[in-house]
Amino acid sequence: MILLFGAGGQLGRELARASAAGGVPLVALSRVDTDITDATAVRTAFSRHKPSVVANAAAYTKVDAAETETEAARQGNEIGPAVLAAASAAADVPLVHVSTDYVFDGSKELAYVEHDPIAPINAYGRTKAAGERAVRENAPKHVILRTSWVYGEFGQNFLKTMLKLAATRDELRVVADQHGCPTSTADLAATILSIAPRLAANENVWGTYHYAGSGATTWHGFASRIVAAQAPLTGRTPRVIPITTSEFPTAARRPANSVLDCGKFARVFGFGGRPWIEETDRITRALLTAEERHVA
Ligand SMILES: NC(=O)c1ccc[n+]([C@@H]2O[C@H](COP(=O)([O-])OP(=O)(O)OC[C@H]3O[C@@H](n4cnc5c(N)ncnc54)[C@H](OP(=O)(O)O)[C@@H]3O)[C@@H](O)[C@H]2O)c1
Repeated sequence: MILLFGAGGQLGRELARASAAGGVPLVALSRVDTDITDATAVRTAFSRHKPSVVANAAAYTKVDAAETETEAARQGNEIGPAVLAAASAAADVPLVHVSTDYVFDGSKELAYVEHDPIAPINAYGRTKAAGERAVRENAPKHVILRTSWVYGEFGQNFLKTMLKLAATRDELRVVADQHGCPTSTADLAATILSIAPRLAANENVWGTYHYAGSGATTWHGFASRIVAAQAPLTGRTPRVIPITTSEFPTAARRPANSVLDCGKFARVFGFGGRPWIEETDRITRALLTAEERHVA
């Protein structure tokens, strides 16, 4: 059985849905059930559910707000993972922890591999980097999946923001000088469920992996695809105008390049991420044809 923390977020909800659809035993705990920074509550959850694998989808993900809400970000992204890692080690249960492309500074020209030096340029990235370290130091049986540009049917994400804007505006101005790999929660959730049995069987695959949708683009490229995918369903055809990062100032700096090389994951586990273009088209269609099922 998989014990999931952070079940209320966009990845957590997708994991709960995918496990139910696939008949995979999983207990989903959201923040109201168990706060991952509460060591007693976490230990109680472990002893009550006796998982064979633990998955952490909980995090503080407000990249800009993290610049000022530094303690909240530290709690969610460093202290919580440290608590989960210690509990996993004490119970001898493998931990799957999700991290981010924003641990890199974005100055590399090629795609990032796992052993590239990390050098986060924003507070969110620094807390996530600290969380990775806590997991490595506390839980020998861990798999850290660094992913990027996460979107899906649940919660808040870039794809949903673009759909909302496309519905009302004739022009969308979107940053075209940041490069990355959009990753669907459905892809990531299916991957976590599919590797879980190998972790439960104690296969020696512990370590850090990059896992993202296949193909790379810019936010402008991503937005253009979303707009193209929604047009036949809505009749809306706003123009998507490329702009530079300096034309769209944000509280947190973002890496100019955070494309992840996912070759290590493919070599060890035998498969890779789904093409981001296909997932973007599929999720856009799903959202627009079943809007009433997905409130916010
Ligand atoms: N979103 C992206 O673009 C992106 C990119 C790269 C990596 N990631 C990583 O992917 C993972 C999943 O992200 P996501 O997009 O699914 O995030 P999300 O939608 O923001 O969900 C995170 C969930 O964690 C919960 N949470 C926060 N602190 C908690 C705590 N102390 N105890 C229990 N639950 C807590 C949040 O609850 P509240 O809503 O109550 O705070 C929320 O339900 C995270 O590790 C994130 O860092 C995300």
